[in-house]
Amino acid sequence: MPSLAGRTALVTGASRGIGAAVARALDDAGARVALVARDARALGEVAGALLHDPVVVAADLGAPDGPAKVARDVLGAVGAVDVLVNNAAAAARLPITETGPAVVDELLAVNVRAPLLLTAALVPGMVARGGGCIVNVSSVSGLVGTPNRAAYAASKGALDAATRALAMELGPSGIRVNAVAPGVVDTALWAKNKAVPGVVERVEALTPLRRWGEPEDIADVVVFLASDAARLVTGETISVDGGMAHTLDLYGGPV
Ligand SMILES: NC(=O)c1ccc[n+]([C@@H]2O[C@H](COP(=O)([O-])OP(=O)(O)OC[C@H]3O[C@@H](n4cnc5c(N)ncnc54)[C@H](OP(=O)(O)O)[C@@H]3O)[C@@H](O)[C@H]2O)c1
Repeated sequence: MPSLAGRTALVTGASRGIGAAVARALDDAGARVALVARDARALGEVAGALLHDPVVVAADLGAPDGPAKVARDVLGAVGAVDVLVNNAAAAARLPITETGPAVVDELLAVNVRAPLLLTAALVPGMVARGGGCIVNVSSVSGLVGTPNRAAYAASKGALDAATRALAMELGPSGIRVNAVAPGVVDTALWAKNKAVPGVVERVEALTPLRRWGEPEDIADVVVFLASDAARLVTGETISVDGGMAHTLDLYGGPV
């Protein structure tokens, strides 16, 4: 993997799943990582296995002042953030008729407002240092139609649009902004739905590479995007989904 030695990264949603894998992969590449989520104990466990003097900040990013407070605390602890990974998200699988204001507000607050406000708080430091890198963790749901996920899909589509807009705005300051769009990754997010009979096989059938994603599959691409190996890449949403977003499998599964 490319080296991130000497860089500092902030990873949201680092207490488990994809965010924890991203924190481990950035640390493996040599970066010092600040880990953010609500569960301080889980963050501490992930941080405990890292080598490069990690920092833990427990906070609710869904609170209006959460992102600004996180940025202040992280900058106070590590001095500068070179890489921001907006990974934390709330998710909901609900028919639209059962989608009320509380769900929509939470999804938009955590999945869209928090990445925007964290970016706003950290960009001045990146500009002052002549560059930086932002990676947003989006979803296949932002790219193709996923039933019973309208609010979640709307939040991820918004994040993809923000990724492109920010890449244009911040490129002249040397800041690259990209997104990764996971397909189906075996994390706590899927624990309930994975138990629905037939879902495991259906995911495999709808994935050309015929397997579920693992958190490390996403983390490796985040490290690539955060590194100088991706120095001319900005404004992209890169699918990391085994081909799922490109599938039109009319015959329904393995042949
Ligand atoms: N798993 C998949 O199949 C899949 C597919 C497509 C996209 N994604 C995206 O990948 C990212 C990571 O997903 P995952 O599967 O790793 O999910 P996960 O296991 O549910 O982890 C979500 C992370 O976000 C944190 N978080 C949630 N709400 C928060 C809040 N209000 N404030 C601070 N932190 C918060 C959680 O920590 P705390 O609970 O400790 O706060 C946790 O660390 C998300 O953006 C998700 O939309 C996942």
